[in-house]
Amino acid sequence: MERSVEAAAARLRAARRVTVLTGAGVSAASGIPTFRGEAGLWRSFRAEDLATPEAFERDPITVWEWYDWRRRAIAAARPNAAHETIASWSRSFDEFTLVTQNVDGLHELAGTAGIVRFHGSIWTLRCASSCGARPEGWEDRTAPLAEIPPRCPDCGGLARPGVVWFGEAIPVTALEAAWRAADCDVCVVAGTSSLVMPAASLADAARDRGAWTLEVNPEATRATSRVDCAIAGRAEDVLPEIDRAIRSGQRGSGRSERQ
Ligand code: APR
Repeated sequence: MERSVEAAAARLRAARRVTVLTGAGVSAASGIPTFRGEAGLWRSFRAEDLATPEAFERDPITVWEWYDWRRRAIAAARPNAAHETIASWSRSFDEFTLVTQNVDGLHELAGTAGIVRFHGSIWTLRCASSCGARPEGWEDRTAPLAEIPPRCPDCGGLARPGVVWFGEAIPVTALEAAWRAADCDVCVVAGTSSLVMPAASLADAARDRGAWTLEVNPEATRATSRVDCAIAGRAEDVLPEIDRAIRSGQRGSGRSERQ
């Protein structure tokens, strides 16, 4: 691992354009369960019953009870060292983009710049009947929710979580921003099983465009054999370690310290 951390630090030290893709694993150390890991959400709940437009159509109350439960858990969580390292990197490179699949808002809470919320946000609500008054939705951070199901403040109809459900398209603005970010020098993939498309093809796209790609994950994933370097470890340990190696290398090279 020592050598890989050094290799990653050297690549990042020389990089101008950096893109980071994150998944549920970066929030694991903040106490938020992943989806497919050991105590993952999809082990105890059926995605098709809770995270699809059809499930919401069928039973909006159960869907909202589940999202309310998740919102309350997330409201009690704080960013961890992985979020904090990514936040400091977001202010350190000429061009930086964080494409996150996470809807928990912890990257935002850590002060990260250049975020693409690829799967939306659990803190955004939208009108389920698209009454059109607020197409982007509205922010609601109350946990627990005052009312289940919550209502659209404009038409009084049902509100829905502002997340991207299975079978739904990624918002065009997010998709375009993520694909622009595939033009980078280094692409870091942290805390994702790299199973859910189209997010899972971002690192391949970056690599095809000449980027050096790094995966950080304690387990092997679909991406492990496709990246230039895979570090088997937890993001909250490995990312700060890479950051320390970047800084110690800088001291040697006389380049300005990263902020
Ligand atoms: N540090 C880094 N990686 C970790 C850590 C950690 N501390 N703990 C777990 N992981 C890894 C797991 O090994 C796993 O590969 O994080 C990954 C989490 O994978 P998933 O649970 O599949 O989550 P994710 O990849 O974000 O899921 C993608 O699927 O369910 C949908 O919309 C949801 O955005 C989500 C998408």
